[in-house]
Amino acid sequence: MSKTVISAKQIKKAYKDLEVLKGVDLTILEGEIISIVGASGAGKTTLLQILGTLDKPDYKTDTELVINTQSIKNLNDKSLAKFRNKNIGFIFQFHQLLPEFTALENVCIPAFIHNTPKAEAEKCAIELLDYLGLKDRIHHKPNSMSGGEQQRVAVARALINNPNIIFADEPSGNLDSESADQLHKLFFKLRDEFNQTFVIVTHNHDLAEMADRKLTMVDGKILG
Ligand SMILES: Nc1ncnc2c1ncn2[C@@H]1O[C@H](COP(=O)(O)OP(=O)(O)O)[C@@H](O)[C@H]1O
Ligand SMILES: [Mg+2]
Repeated sequence: MSKTVISAKQIKKAYKDLEVLKGVDLTILEGEIISIVGASGAGKTTLLQILGTLDKPDYKTDTELVINTQSIKNLNDKSLAKFRNKNIGFIFQFHQLLPEFTALENVCIPAFIHNTPKAEAEKCAIELLDYLGLKDRIHHKPNSMSGGEQQRVAVARALINNPNIIFADEPSGNLDSESADQLHKLFFKLRDEFNQTFVIVTHNHDLAEMADRKLTMVDGKILG
């Protein structure tokens, strides 16, 4: 049986009087590809940021967030940053690559934060970029690459520390349909080869339907 990688119970978040998440319960298994759909403002990004430990829920007595058997509530900020760096990868709608750095340098940054020696980080980054079909783009800066290429560099950056969970927030929202298709196929290929878990917020109908499980968010809750 697959192991549980994320166990979330009664995840709530309010900004002043605005209740953005109203008690989300969610269990995600290793190797699952989950899509999250829902109208703008439903709370998808907020949920993803909390599951990805970039943001904190409002901890109530019944709130629980356990990732890879680690209870997130018990980590101080420094331990949390270390935990995130090792266990979690992020892919955003806008690639958020650093414009002054090459593809290779962008991909290496999380590995450097992880204290991986430079030669080892670069070797791994080159292998990843090669795997993602970017061998000829290694020394290019983001603005000399296509949108699809930039997003694949962002995927490589998300994967460099070999996290077992990847969160993606509208990763193909800014891509033409062919590049989007390629990116989606890549997620499934990575899952099939490395058993990584993907949690993907998307407005892309095909991707949402291809997922193992599609969750629909309405007004701060998951339907069903
Ligand atoms: N930092 C914040 N401060 C105040 N309100 C916020 C903040 N972040 C998100 N919200 C509000 O929370 C609601 C849900 O936002 P979000 O999670 O981004 O939804 P989605 O990704 O589904 O479009 C929106 O009404 C948004 O305006
Ligand atoms: Mg959003």
